[in-house]
Amino acid sequence: MAEITEIPTGIHHFERIGAHTHIRGLGLDDNLKAVKIKDGMVGQEKAREAAGLVVQMIREGKLSGKTVILAGPPGTGKTAIAIAISKELGPNVPFIQMSGSEIYSSERKKTEILIEAMRKCIGVEIHEMRKVYEGEVTHLEMRTAPHPYNPYQRVPESVRLTLKTAKQEKTIEAGASIAQQIISQGITEGCVIQIDAETGRVVNLGLSMESEKGKLYELDTREKIPRPPGDVLKEKEFVYTLTLDDLDKIQARNRLGGGFFSLLFGSGETKEISSEVRASVDEMVKKMVDEGKAFIHPGVLFIDDSHLLDLEAFSFLGRALESELVPIIILATNRGITTIRGTDIKSPMGFPLDLLDRAVIIATHKYDADSVREILKIRAGEEKIDVSSDALERLTEIGINSSLRYAVQLLSLSAQNAKYVKRKNITIEDIERVKSLFMDVSQAIEHLRKYEMEMLNY
Ligand SMILES: Nc1ncnc2c1ncn2[C@@H]1O[C@H](COP(=O)(O)OP(=O)(O)OP(=O)(O)O)[C@@H](O)[C@H]1O
Ligand SMILES: [Mg+2]
Repeated sequence: MAEITEIPTGIHHFERIGAHTHIRGLGLDDNLKAVKIKDGMVGQEKAREAAGLVVQMIREGKLSGKTVILAGPPGTGKTAIAIAISKELGPNVPFIQMSGSEIYSSERKKTEILIEAMRKCIGVEIHEMRKVYEGEVTHLEMRTAPHPYNPYQRVPESVRLTLKTAKQEKTIEAGASIAQQIISQGITEGCVIQIDAETGRVVNLGLSMESEKGKLYELDTREKIPRPPGDVLKEKEFVYTLTLDDLDKIQARNRLGGGFFSLLFGSGETKEISSEVRASVDEMVKKMVDEGKAFIHPGVLFIDDSHLLDLEAFSFLGRALESELVPIIILATNRGITTIRGTDIKSPMGFPLDLLDRAVIIATHKYDADSVREILKIRAGEEKIDVSSDALERLTEIGINSSLRYAVQLLSLSAQNAKYVKRKNITIEDIERVKSLFMDVSQAIEHLRKYEMEMLNY
């Protein structure tokens, strides 16, 4: 017997814990009311309920081209709420997360980066009816002919196939290109295949369960599928979901490629897609939507730290929001009244007033002790850390007086400390020790002030 050993699952599983891995959703009940602690979310009820309404409207397609701003002090859960929104929307709604700083690239224009991000957020579900021959191969006869330049070698010339479905059996004859695809894909009797009637593309779907091989070879790795129902030649609907950006790239490649020199020297990477390509994709998509062949799924573009965008970017976003194929834009910022980047104009959050006017704003607030304690408990669970109750109280106090993030950092550092003194759970001593080793922001400022004269300040 062959030597086969089974590897138990779970070994070598590298677990990564990010800042927001504990967030699983917005934690709302059926009436969209926030449950104090649910889905990894704690407190911040109003912002979560507002986000719940936003999710509902996105699902119903009522919010495209709108802007939602998450505003509040640092560490109050703006990024966490945006991530919860993406979790609520599920994997089928495109959700792209970027930081305001990503628009500054030396290779590409700012507007190009924004437009690409926006187009990645719009899903296009394309339905296509195609005529296909489909069935289990019950008989396969390859005809070969001598190679035109090398008569000792034989090449496939045509193929005769009998395809069987649950209802029908049909024999077809096809030319060299289909014969070659059949050979290269290792298609034999017993396989279920699909041949596009127009283009002749062959797809091997798997091994038929009803075939002799399907019944016999237990250890065959090929997927086993039932014999297809219906006629051998049928019209079948194919559904693909792509984004506008995927379609742009395909279109750009089609325009570039094909030339003789591109074969020899490659087609060269395009850093930017021209506006004509995008316009032609939009035309094509709109036509397909009108014909009922495509459906648009607007997704979400989340720009974190969006005070880093400048006036140019804001004006571009504002204009883009008025076009037809746009996603929902969520911006997050922790800035108060400050200058709009690229100008010396002061404005709330550093956003232009006309953008603020068009947006709905969700506020996040500082946490009370109860919420800080619960968030710390969730983080401890997530990082598999045991915390004694007085240590948790101390961390909560630190969370309130310094910041939630600082308390979360101390939690991980204390766990490391406890590990080295071979203790299972974190005690107040671990916290005091790491607290004496690392500074919080206010201590850091004080420290810098103290050595103001000695530090290099240029
Ligand atoms: N309501 C909450 N429930 C659970 N965890 C939270 C909540 N709010 C924040 N957190 C967690 O606290 C940490 C800080 O929050 P987050 O990064 O979302 O803050 P922020 O508002 O985006 O801050 P900044 O303005 O600095 O970007 C993260 O680890 C986040 O997952
Ligand atoms: Mg953030």
